[in-house]
Amino acid sequence: MGGELEPQRIVRLEDDAVVVLDQRRLPSEEVDLRCASASAVAEAIRTLAVRGAPAIGIAAAYGLALAAERGEDLETAYETLAASRPTAVNLRWALEAMRDDPSRERAERIHADEVARCRAMGAHALELFPEGARVLTHCNAGGLATGGYGTALGAIRAAYEAARIEHVWVDETRPLLQGARLTAWELEQLGIPHAVIVDGAAASLMARGEVDLVVTGADRIAANGDTANKIGTYALAVSAAHHGLPLVIVAPTSTLDPTASTGAEIPIEERDPAEVTARFAARNPAFDVTPADLVAAIVTERGVHRVPYAETLPREAAAAR
Ligand code: MRU
Repeated sequence: MGGELEPQRIVRLEDDAVVVLDQRRLPSEEVDLRCASASAVAEAIRTLAVRGAPAIGIAAAYGLALAAERGEDLETAYETLAASRPTAVNLRWALEAMRDDPSRERAERIHADEVARCRAMGAHALELFPEGARVLTHCNAGGLATGGYGTALGAIRAAYEAARIEHVWVDETRPLLQGARLTAWELEQLGIPHAVIVDGAAASLMARGEVDLVVTGADRIAANGDTANKIGTYALAVSAAHHGLPLVIVAPTSTLDPTASTGAEIPIEERDPAEVTARFAARNPAFDVTPADLVAAIVTERGVHRVPYAETLPREAAAAR
């Protein structure tokens, strides 16, 4: 197996700063970004220096611990961090988990627990991978997105170690190329065979019989299983359904939002249109919602869930809080 991306390399708390591996600069440069205040952490989250649902929760938890150590006003720090991005519920979940104990130790425990959840999901997801699977994934749901190991990419990695993976198709993921820059980089480090494709190529590869299943992460999952993830996931789900292929979501219980009964209640981040094109008018929704009936299975650290999700997911979320 190739290089392991250590959790502390991705995000950590030092004496005077939260330090993140700057994901905007990958894969060409591996440089740290030092965030010396809660608002600097919020800025790092907003600008995607640190990104991915569990990772932004972990970074925010470290940001709140830093604020407590620096004697910052904690309510202001909490609100600034919570407002940095709207869709991934992990952000508020982690801040809420810090409320009674905004300490360094608590933040480190949240980080370690999220990585442990990823490993557990990898083990549960194994049964969903056929022998010799050709998997398609979207965006980046690897160690970079989760503070270590990965959700969807963690499951792919576990399946590869169990000799179930033949090949991984990596959607490039317009407009910010999390697939082409980050997922491909992680797969290369892990020595897993892969190829980057433009997002528009996915359906035609399915039609040619070159895809066996689609596996992605999530940013927020409603009580009925409707799943928000990176823009383009819904289109993949529709294509997969048309070709009779399963779409599997791998996400920890920190991504479940039992207060949203359906995906219609999930806030969708609209980012700067200039990320799409600086020359013309543009629209830049960063996420979409895949309806639960297009999701073949949702894997959490507690097991594999299937339709009807409303019967098991809310109980799962409550047990994990
Ligand atoms: O805008 P991003 O890069 O933060 O979006 C991330 C995703 O959509 C991931 O698929 C999701 O957070 C799951 S990461 C384990």
